[in-house]
Amino acid sequence: MGQPFFSRPFYRPRPGAPLYCGKVSLEALARRYGTPLYVYSADQIRERLALFQAAFAGREHLVCYAVKANSALAILKLLAGRGAGFDIVSGGELERVLAAAPEAAGRVVFSGVGKTAAEIDLALEAGILAFNVESEAELHLLAERARKRKRRARFALRVNPDVFADTHPYISTGLREHKFGIDIRQAPKIYKNMARNRWLEAYGVSVHIGSQIRSAEPFGAAMERVSRLVEQLAREGVALHAIDAGGGLGIDYHAAGFDAAAKVTEYAAAMASALAGFHGSLLIEPGRFVIAQAGALVARVLYVKRNGKKTFVITDAAMNDLIRPALYQAHHEIAPVRLRAGKPRPVDVVGPVCESGDFFARDRNLAPVQPGDLLVLLDAGAYGMAQSSNYNTRPRAAEVLVEGARARIIRRRETISDLLAPESI
Ligand code: LLP
Repeated sequence: MGQPFFSRPFYRPRPGAPLYCGKVSLEALARRYGTPLYVYSADQIRERLALFQAAFAGREHLVCYAVKANSALAILKLLAGRGAGFDIVSGGELERVLAAAPEAAGRVVFSGVGKTAAEIDLALEAGILAFNVESEAELHLLAERARKRKRRARFALRVNPDVFADTHPYISTGLREHKFGIDIRQAPKIYKNMARNRWLEAYGVSVHIGSQIRSAEPFGAAMERVSRLVEQLAREGVALHAIDAGGGLGIDYHAAGFDAAAKVTEYAAAMASALAGFHGSLLIEPGRFVIAQAGALVARVLYVKRNGKKTFVITDAAMNDLIRPALYQAHHEIAPVRLRAGKPRPVDVVGPVCESGDFFARDRNLAPVQPGDLLVLLDAGAYGMAQSSNYNTRPRAAEVLVEGARARIIRRRETISDLLAPESI
């Protein structure tokens, strides 16, 4: 019998049934839209946003969903409709927010270490809430663009709190050795220098210590350092209105027992005690926690073959569709959409791309599968489609959003003509 996947919207309504998302069978979706196919649950996305909003309801706050995790227009629109703001890191992401929910422009914060003048101009014109500025040079550029366009820019310095968070080295960002932010010890001087500039408004201070951080403790530690900085600045005459705590709260990519509500409560509590003396606005930028478990990648088994001692299950999805296992040695649970009788056996689940890094799982116990069967890769909603590519000239997957009994295509499958269109001979 199939297991319901705790805290994930994918489940078997009865033993022997295929997996469902909401009231829709993944088999039916695969038949209708083909594979590889990303499937998302609108209900879970709303629930996760609401968890954060409820946890911080006692104070002025704004949940700025990190667009980079999954930037599908339909998902941005759904989140904006529930009051979310957005954390963007490029002009392109801003264009997405403006296309999906122009009314949310005033709830956008712009992060990133390498903003161009054109991107800054676009954001000034759109009237975003604030720029999270990552260097003194960027602040000078922001001041100059704001003066040229006669639009005052609100900014927060992104400080580097020098807090260690236990996560994969590629996605850890809060140490002094990382490229991100400004040394927290340099920040007071920069705020004071800039306080005189009439085109800049010192709106807040921001941090982001990394991603997929499972413990609440480093978030509390970062907030303590930041709130000390805010107090110091207030004493020295710079009053900041907001603290942006960044994103980074991790999920459990392994099967059972993940309690999302408890995790958010724990996270909010760690922050609240560190921010007890701060009465301004709190911004947070969760990406993964909102969208990862709402999404799955459905793939079809093409071949099952043995090489030496190993069995390979070759699917029609590949590293270009979901690169997390190849890039971060990330674990994604994999399950057959419809279970066959028989003992699970260790297999490698791989894609058709021509390199050995193209795998989803190695030596993973998987129930028996045959060519034509469907597999689901769970927790693929964040940094899945968003990091997909056309490597091997593979058109990108289609995406479907499920709401109760209704499934709608939110991104059609790419065609080869889409891929060839920008090229000339
Ligand atoms: N805010 C800033 C400034 C960020 O750089 C990030 C993520 C977030 C918010 C959202 O973090 P989240 O809540 O999603 O952890 N591709 C990697 C993750 C990269 C995260 C980059 N920054 C992965 O697939 O694990």
